[in-house]
Parts: sequence; structure tokens; C-alpha cells
Amino acid sequence: MEEKIKAYLAEVKAFDSADPEEIERFRIRYLGRKGAIPALFEAFKALPPEQKRTLGKELNGLKNTAAQRVEQLKEIAQLANDPREAQDLTRPVYTEKPGTRHPVNLVKNEIVNIFKRIGFNVSEGPEVEDDWHNFTALNFPEEHPARDMQDTFFVARNPDWALRTHTSSVQVRTMESQKPPIRTISPGRVFRNEAISARSHCIFHQVEGLYIDKGVSFADLKQTLLYFAEAFFGKGTEIRLRPSYFPFTEPSAEMDVWWGLENETDYRMTKGTGWLEVLGCGMVDPNVLENCGIDPKEYTGFAFGMGVERIAMQRFQIPDIRLLFENDVRFLQQFATSF
Ligand code: PHE
Repeated sequence: MEEKIKAYLAEVKAFDSADPEEIERFRIRYLGRKGAIPALFEAFKALPPEQKRTLGKELNGLKNTAAQRVEQLKEIAQLANDPREAQDLTRPVYTEKPGTRHPVNLVKNEIVNIFKRIGFNVSEGPEVEDDWHNFTALNFPEEHPARDMQDTFFVARNPDWALRTHTSSVQVRTMESQKPPIRTISPGRVFRNEAISARSHCIFHQVEGLYIDKGVSFADLKQTLLYFAEAFFGKGTEIRLRPSYFPFTEPSAEMDVWWGLENETDYRMTKGTGWLEVLGCGMVDPNVLENCGIDPKEYTGFAFGMGVERIAMQRFQIPDIRLLFENDVRFLQQFATSF
């Protein structure tokens, strides 16, 4: 009996496991009703009293040690299998990796903030638009070839609906619902049915601006755009306005900023001219004001619109617009420190 107690005690002390099933098998083998230790207790009953005295203590000791060992191992196994507890407090901390803003958002926010500083508010509208807000109110007559300037995705279920081709549609909504003076910026996603290439995409973002009040002139437009160009591209930035055409503005212009023409990149970026095309603009056509319920005899206004991707590509020297839509973290993480 004494040998057995010693042998079991050694086994119990040596047993180690973090597997709950194995621990349970161990418990049954030693402590279960038909286990090794109860069997010893059974045999103990038949011993002569003097042996009982010496072995009783040892037998009880074995039983307690085995029970304690089971409890201890169960507890450890529970901690090990609980994900909240599975922490190694000695391992080095994870360094915090905050998400990064998308370069398109960085640029959009910067543009919007520049205009907010001079009193423009922000307006938004739906991405699925009706013909009126995207085209007709903006002086695109039906069947007019100017509609081809912006290849359109139509919504199959309803030929009157399309994905907006510009956020000028938001400005129509603003003019319809608010009285001048209006000073508003409409940032948003726009859609054009164009082949996807390094330079153009069927989805992109615009920021368009609108200012309507009594006596707004082309000089106000030019000065506002100069303010923007200096705020965005740096003090002393030169701009030029080239005559252009948009159905909703008259006269219309495109604004370029002087980029420089010193190296190969400058040639590539400016197509060899030194000037960077930045935005379209003009005086709101009286027909548009009238369509939106604003009296063109009382009010005049200017509008402008720019593509955010194009400006982001210039600012960050991004060679391919598709990079802005692929969400490749290796690309996006380069902008981690840009805000
Ligand atoms: N809506 C025009 C475009 O998408 C940009 C523009 C806005 C031009 C306002 C003039 C005035 O190209």
C-alpha cells in the first residue's frame, strides 16, 4: 500500500495538461468512483489499526494533492482557452496604426475648407438625378449635342433618371430652394460613361461652387479663383483664364495655373505648355437663373467646377487615376502623414 501511495503521488505531481478532456480523464482515473485512490481507500479499510494510523495520513495527503492538482490544471486550462485571458503581458505592445485618409478626401477637404473661409457653405444632393436637375435646368436643350460632352449612365428602369454627370445638379437644387445671396460649394461623386484609362475614370469627384447675389461680376469670379489658387497652390501662384464653353455659363472660361516648365515632369504634367488645367467656370447663364426661379434682372452669379482626382494626381504626382480606386493599402498608406 505504501509503495502504491508513493507511486501515485509521483504520478499526480508529474501530470500536466492544458487540455480539459485530458484533465477530466486524469480525474476519473485517480479520483473517480472506480478510480485508483478510492480503490486504495477500499483496501485501507481492511488494514490492521497500526498501519491505518501511519498510512491514513499519507492516503489523505494523496487524495488532497490529486484533487488540488485537478482544480489547478482546470483553472489554467480555462484561462488558456479564454481569448480575453490569452494575453502575454510580457510581449511588446502593438504600435497604434490609425487609418489613413484617402488622397481624394484630403484634397477635397482642403478645397472645401479654402472656400468655407470666405463664406461658402456646403451642399449635397442625390447621385441618381433626374434629367431636369442634371441637364434641362442647366440649359442643355433636349437633343442638344452639348449633352454629349458628358457621356451619361442612364438608369434602365426610368429613362428620366441618370447618374449625375456633375454636381451642378446640386446647385440647381440649391437655387430652387434658397433665395440669394447664395454662396455654396457642392463636393460629390459623379459618373460618366467613359473608357477607364490612366487619365480618366467613369467615377470621379468634383467640387463645384456657386455665388449668386446682386451685382456679382466676372471680376468677382476671377478674384475668388485667384484667392483659391494662391491658397491651394501657394502664394504668388499665377492663373490664366481661357475662353471655353459650357451650356450653363456665359461667358465661360477654363482656369489654368502656372506650373513651370523646367524638367521632364513639368512637360508631362502640363503637356508642354507650363500651364496646368484646373477648373471650368463662368457667369451663370440667365436662362439657368430663370429655370431655378431667380430673377436674372435682379441677380447675377458665377459658378465653377473642378475634378478632385485630377488635382490630387497633380498634387501627389500620381501617374494613374486607377490607383485612386483600387484601395491598395500599399498605395493608401503613403498618405498616412498627409493630414
Ligand atoms: N459642370 C462642369 C463640368 O462638369 C464644370 C463647371 C461648373 C463649369 C461650373 C462651369 C461652371 O465639367
